[in-house]
Amino acid sequence: MAVKYSDLGLVNTVDMFKKAVKGGYAIPAYNFNNMEQLQAIVMACTETESPVILQVSSGARKYANQTLLQYMAQGAVAYAKELGKGKNIPISLHLDHGDTYELCVSCIESGFSSVMIDGSHHDYNANVELTKKVVEYAHKHDVTVEGELGVLAGVEDDVSAEHHTYTEPDQVEDFVKKTGVDSLAISIGTSHGAYKFKPGQKAEIRLDILHEIEKRIPGFSIVLHGSSSVPQDLVAKINKHGGKLDDAIGISEDQLREAAKSAVCKINIDSDGRLAMTAAIREVFALKPAEFDPRKYLGPARDALKELYKHKNDKVLGSSGHAFD
Ligand code: G3H
Ligand code: 13P
Ligand code: ZN
Repeated sequence: MAVKYSDLGLVNTVDMFKKAVKGGYAIPAYNFNNMEQLQAIVMACTETESPVILQVSSGARKYANQTLLQYMAQGAVAYAKELGKGKNIPISLHLDHGDTYELCVSCIESGFSSVMIDGSHHDYNANVELTKKVVEYAHKHDVTVEGELGVLAGVEDDVSAEHHTYTEPDQVEDFVKKTGVDSLAISIGTSHGAYKFKPGQKAEIRLDILHEIEKRIPGFSIVLHGSSSVPQDLVAKINKHGGKLDDAIGISEDQLREAAKSAVCKINIDSDGRLAMTAAIREVFALKPAEFDPRKYLGPARDALKELYKHKNDKVLGSSGHAFD
């Protein structure tokens, strides 16, 4: 039996994006796979009064189980309401990097309010066709769709690209018009994971391309993937307690802040959360080797994650205080 996202208390991204583009901030899209991550997201976003996109990859869907995810998202809304004393922040449930029409349909049928169809690894015309097909189905169900043009370097699930293929500003208007997408992910030098730049390489993204794209599709909602900043204190803590993350480098917060002030209305962050959790867990394991109650290491991991998200909302994305605009 199909489930409608609004029956779970979720919203699509139409309003969120409209307000974010107008207000010069970006909506956080935080990935989750388990309860502690979800709790941290809901706590942080409720405390900062930020709208939020709960993001689920196909890997997360396999890991957590689709049925459980559906109830977790519904639970997230109820939990936000409880924390917000009867008033909950807007929450959207989004499929991250959907790669087939069938996966998008399946997610929509199980309560997702937004999906990404990532046709960026196909040639232009095939990307247009696939994206358009998903949009036609999704819009019938009032679900929003994110497409992607350009290829990020690095690994995404099973696909990997050695070099960035930057989004071609000349293509964006045609893509948006032909597909009917609600938002567009672009490639301007961000990449997935904790190793975004090589040592010695200029750690900068191409904001000039972003601004050129904005000129071609004024006011249209732009999405940035691969936007973790890889905080060096977290990397140092992981390495201090037995980890081995050499030369992990992320996107500067200043550049993300600048992007968020423009047409970038959704910023995807996953790796920083992984680093925060890992650092906290490694520290407990190193300092309290006799500890074996999972709550004693997952609890500190959740606290660290919550602080990280609050910092992002307040200081990087600028979404704090915008939940009830
Ligand atoms: O873009 C990738 C996200 O970080 C999700 O990663 O596919 O390992 O769940 P995952
Ligand atoms: P990071 O790996 O930089 O956190 O990017 C996450 C992402 O883009 C999810 O789609
Ligand atoms: Zn991504």
